[in-house]
Amino acid sequence: MDWGMKNRLSRIIKPKTGHTVMLAVDHGYFMGPTTGLENFEVVKSLLPYADTLMLTRGALRNYIKPENDIPIVLRVSGGTSIIGKELLREGIIVSIEDAIKLNVSGLAFSIMVGSEFERDTLLGLAKVIDWGEEYGIPVVAVTAVGKEMGRDARYLSLASRMAAELGAHIVKTYYCENFEKVVDTCPVPIVMAGGKKIPEKDALEMTYKAIQSGAVGVDMGRNIFQSEDPVAMIQAVRAVVHEEATAEEAFEVFEEKRGK
Ligand code: R5P
Repeated sequence: MDWGMKNRLSRIIKPKTGHTVMLAVDHGYFMGPTTGLENFEVVKSLLPYADTLMLTRGALRNYIKPENDIPIVLRVSGGTSIIGKELLREGIIVSIEDAIKLNVSGLAFSIMVGSEFERDTLLGLAKVIDWGEEYGIPVVAVTAVGKEMGRDARYLSLASRMAAELGAHIVKTYYCENFEKVVDTCPVPIVMAGGKKIPEKDALEMTYKAIQSGAVGVDMGRNIFQSEDPVAMIQAVRAVVHEEATAEEAFEVFEEKRGK
C-alpha cells in the first residue's frame, strides 16, 4: 500500500486503538433537511469528539470551516431522493478532482446489492475504487438496505464481501444477528452504521455487540445527532469504541455527561 493511502487510512481508523468513531451527517443528499441536521449547529458541537466526518461536498463547503482539521470522508454517490421513484439508483455525484481539492481522507459510495440497480452501483463503486487506488484515497463502501433487500447476516455478508472483493478499503454495514459472520467473512475493516434513532441504551448495546464481533468502529448518524443530548451520546459511543467500555458503562457515561 502506498504512503498516501496508508496515511489517509490512519486518519480514519486511529492507530492508537485501531478503532474509529465516524460521524455520519450525509443524510441530506437524499433526505434534505433531516432532523438534527437543519443548520449543522449540532454537528459543530460534535466535531471535537468525532474521529472522521462523513458528509457531502455541499455540506462541507457550506457548514464546515476549512481550518477544521477533522478528516473528511466524502459521499460520492447519490442522485436520487426519498420521494423519487428510483431511490436505489445512485450514481457518482463528485469528480475525483473535486474530492482532491477538498483534501478528503476517504470516499464513500453506496451499493445496492440485490436491487434492480445493483449493477449500476457496483460498477460505480469499482470506478471510484480505481480513482482511490490512483490517488491514494481509501474508499468506504456502504451496503445500503432497501425494502427489497435483506438485513440479516446472510445478506449483509454477501454485500460486504462483494464490496471488499471489488476493492473497497472499508465496508460500512448494518448490525444484525450473527454479526461476527459478516465481520469474519470480510477481509477489510467493517464499521457499523447506526440506522434509525433508537433509545440511547439500545444504541450503545448495539455498538458494544458490533465491537465485540470485530467491527473497527461505527459510522453513526441519527443515533448521535438526534439523541436528546448528542454531545453526551457521542462520548458514550467513544467509550465503547475506544475505551472497551461495556454498554452499561457507556450508558453511565451518557447519564453523567448529559445536560452538561
Ligand atoms: C445512508 O446511507 C447514509 O450514508 C448515512 O450516513 C448512514 O445511514 C449512517 O447514518 P445512520 O447512523 O443515521 O444510519
